[in-house]
Amino acid sequence: MSKLKITETSLRDGHQSLIATRLTTDEILPILAEMDKAGYYSMEVWGGATFDTCLRFLNEDPWERLRKIKATVKNTKLQMLSRGQNLLGYKNYPDDIVEKFLKNAIYEGIDIVRIFDALNDIRNLQKSIEVIKKENAHCQCAISYTKSPVHTTEYYLKLIKDFENAGADSVCIKDMSGILLPYEAYDLVKAIKKVTKLPIEFHTHCTSGVAQMSVLKAVEAGVDIVDTAISPLSSGTSQPATESLAISLAETERDPQLNLDSLNKTAEYFKDVVKKYQDNGTYNIKVLMTEPKTLRYQIPGGMLSNLIFQMKSLNASDKYDAVLAEVPRVREDLGYPPLVTPMSQMVGAQAVFNVISGGKYKIIPTEIKNYVKGMYGKPATPISDEVRKEIIGDEEVITVRPADLLTDEYERVKKDIGELAQSEQDVLSYALFPQTAKDYFEKRNKPSLV
Ligand code: CO
Repeated sequence: MSKLKITETSLRDGHQSLIATRLTTDEILPILAEMDKAGYYSMEVWGGATFDTCLRFLNEDPWERLRKIKATVKNTKLQMLSRGQNLLGYKNYPDDIVEKFLKNAIYEGIDIVRIFDALNDIRNLQKSIEVIKKENAHCQCAISYTKSPVHTTEYYLKLIKDFENAGADSVCIKDMSGILLPYEAYDLVKAIKKVTKLPIEFHTHCTSGVAQMSVLKAVEAGVDIVDTAISPLSSGTSQPATESLAISLAETERDPQLNLDSLNKTAEYFKDVVKKYQDNGTYNIKVLMTEPKTLRYQIPGGMLSNLIFQMKSLNASDKYDAVLAEVPRVREDLGYPPLVTPMSQMVGAQAVFNVISGGKYKIIPTEIKNYVKGMYGKPATPISDEVRKEIIGDEEVITVRPADLLTDEYERVKKDIGELAQSEQDVLSYALFPQTAKDYFEKRNKPSLV
């Protein structure tokens, strides 16, 4: 077995998981040259929630952040996370927006694009795969890992073969809830190795307390790349610490051969940066608390805290346990969607409604109706006729790729935002987050508003 490769996630998932994605570009830039010496395979620096947060809370242009990062990082590949046809937003965008968005990201310096779909519906990834390949970037297809009677090893192996046939350059096990147990990780990596020669990456979260063990077993099984975060931005709801894994594997055949001196300097730097977020309350100790309930209920940590908050605001905290029990039932009714954005919010909301309205599907959010109509893609197993009728009556279910129902909208969006947009990238920011981007452009024009 060859040396293990490391993707450093602190500049995307690390701060997204622990401090609500609040690192500013000014906090990132001074340490980049040092991080570039570490010997990482790649650094995840863009995508996910970073784009939205730049515009909404940091008054920053996310495209400018990427340009500045690229200008400093010379040796390490830059990686981003994109939600397939949803890009960095929360709905399906038409193909022309997907194409222009990914083209611009790759042009500005992204080398590896990790894409995933909340339902593992490959049709929602096809356009992205086509563009990433055409632009000569590395296309990594990720499985949204979940557990259910239909999410068997065979299910995942078929998905991996589908990724390979669609042109993926590598595959990723994306365990957003941190529920893949050590021996399961070992078996899954071994099984995937048998069906593909593509490199396999493992992405997990420490939420439930098993991540470090699962990573080690995945390494033993021959996983090619592992996601870790530098210590001050690691653990809790984030990834395992980079240094701890590097030291554990030192002088073994999987030694990632990272520059420990560089890792130490990076850790020292971020300790200081993170302190500011501890002091202002952004870094809440709760994110570091191990939550094995995640394993029992199969509910991601973030969703658990959302449900607690929702039940409190509805003055129904006494029904919290009833909601926790309702979540798996709703999930079963809906064909076992993985509980990742946006499905986690949708399933959670429906479970709350079922419990507080005292009956199943008396109140149904529009998103759930659209989901049952097939607008988000195909669930892993079909929804029963009975549940479908209860939710959408006799309305038709679409069978085409959801984005086939959308028409190109770049020109319309461009006209709509007009003079406020100064570039194609501005138009794309506006296409994804209309109000947020518009507010940002207005502030940019009038610095006195900042
Ligand atoms: Co993650």
